Amino acid sequence: MDHSGLSLFPPQLLCLYTLDIKFMIKLLSFFLLTFLSMTSMAQSTMNIVPLPQTIEMKAGTFMLDKNFSIQYALENPELKRLDIFLRGQLKNRFGIKVSNKKNHTPALIFTIDEKLTRLGNEGYTLIIAPDQIKITAPNSKGIFYGIQSFLQCIPFQSNQKSLAIPCTFIEDQPRFGWRGMMLDVVRHFFTVEDVKNFLDIMSTYKMNVFHWHLVDDQGWRLQINKYPKLTSVGAWRMETPGAVYYAKNDSLTGTPKRYGGFYTQQQARDIVQYAADRNIMVIPEIEMPGHSQAALAAYPQFSCENIPQEVASSASDFAKLYSNYCPSNDSTFIFLQDVLNEVMNIFPSPYIHIGGDEVDKRDWKKHAKDQALIKEKNLKDENGLQSYFIHRIADYLKAHGKNIIGWDETLDGGLSPDALVQSWRGTSGGIAAAKQKHGAIMSPANPLYFNRYQGDPKTEPFAAKFTINTLKKVYQYEPVPVELDSAQTKYIIGVEGAVWVEFIKTYPQVQYMLLPRILALAEVTWSAKKDRQWDGFLKRLPYQFKLFAKEKWNFDEKNTTFEDVK
Ligand code: ACM
Repeated sequence: MDHSGLSLFPPQLLCLYTLDIKFMIKLLSFFLLTFLSMTSMAQSTMNIVPLPQTIEMKAGTFMLDKNFSIQYALENPELKRLDIFLRGQLKNRFGIKVSNKKNHTPALIFTIDEKLTRLGNEGYTLIIAPDQIKITAPNSKGIFYGIQSFLQCIPFQSNQKSLAIPCTFIEDQPRFGWRGMMLDVVRHFFTVEDVKNFLDIMSTYKMNVFHWHLVDDQGWRLQINKYPKLTSVGAWRMETPGAVYYAKNDSLTGTPKRYGGFYTQQQARDIVQYAADRNIMVIPEIEMPGHSQAALAAYPQFSCENIPQEVASSASDFAKLYSNYCPSNDSTFIFLQDVLNEVMNIFPSPYIHIGGDEVDKRDWKKHAKDQALIKEKNLKDENGLQSYFIHRIADYLKAHGKNIIGWDETLDGGLSPDALVQSWRGTSGGIAAAKQKHGAIMSPANPLYFNRYQGDPKTEPFAAKFTINTLKKVYQYEPVPVELDSAQTKYIIGVEGAVWVEFIKTYPQVQYMLLPRILALAEVTWSAKKDRQWDGFLKRLPYQFKLFAKEKWNFDEKNTTFEDVK
């Protein structure tokens, strides 16, 4: 007979007792696992930038591996395209090749439900449940944004055979309909592939307007068939040692060289399509009446002086150059209308940006015919002449179903009613525009010009000085000025950041200036004002830095918390 201590308990009791212990251990490990998975949930689905309007974590995980399918109404070509897009992203970013066997479960399901009008034009819901993921939206734009959010729910793990995605509920739509970024391709030229990468970065963060600064004193970058010299002459400049951008900084070195490049119409169309596939509207900027030296180097007859000149080799030097079109010369308008006809043919956007900034009006002051025109049209002065010029172009575009956008100087002297105003000299232009019932895009150079320093100038690559536009300043920028009442506020249609490239010679340096500031801007444009919390944003950045590294986008996280002490 066994006389071990345990035999002191009757056998039934012993069994119950061990069961109890097992049960307790199970219960404890259940709580522990739930707690751990909640913690890892907090680490993964709460990383989304821009922060969704509603996001709730749920219990459980969806195990993502190649054995799942993407399902949708197959007759919808837009959804087919998004299926291909998502599979490409899963492969490139996470190494997951979706086999996409038909009706295989578990599944990710795209559904378009036009009745979901509460989600607006760009909203979506994303539900991640243990057995299924659903992205639902009133249109394919929303599905695209649901995909972008879903991709940011996937953790970066070293074992990539299957990835545990925490269950989550998201309902989301943007605060502003206009979420823009401008890229200058004039002061330095970037390839079609570079521009596409810029669009990739924008679309990852749900930005939807690409403002393409194609024309300036230093180059004309778009093929125009009727005026071939715009690109054979206007796209090329001599870079001469000693020439400088802005005052005294970054003078060119080396031997004189021809520098330039342009986009063919076919390439521009390709970029428009690539952007459209990512919900991005492309707005071309064709500068006038100033900043037009490259065009006038090619066709001097459209300047007041008709003097041969070169494409500017460095910063615009208004005192020496003739960079304005001549408003008293009717052939100038015929030329510009011809150019705009081709531009409208390439770009389907309802807007054309016509620049209008920094027009040095001294050559109009000196020119007798311009002065005679001021008298004849009963204009007040050269500002009135600029307004006359812009009105003529705006009327022409209007007759072709397009509206203009101009930098805030275009408000001087009056602007046509449907014109949009882009406020760059601070916010006063946007405020004035809204008060005059013009749609306004807020782009105050401080803090939304990303060509300015983001960190300590002593340790950063040379950049535009003026102000230090730190990540925190961008994040804390509030686009709706307090000066406006609620009726005027609705004219603030959105926000745009800008990358001017006088000092940015290579595309990786464009990425460096863009990242991570575009994330802060994306959140300003998309997320609810009340949810914008700097500390919360910082917590979401480490995931995003992994994403940048995975995509091989050039960045440096050292400036993240740099504060401008001024
Ligand atoms: C500008 O920065 N001149 C619009």
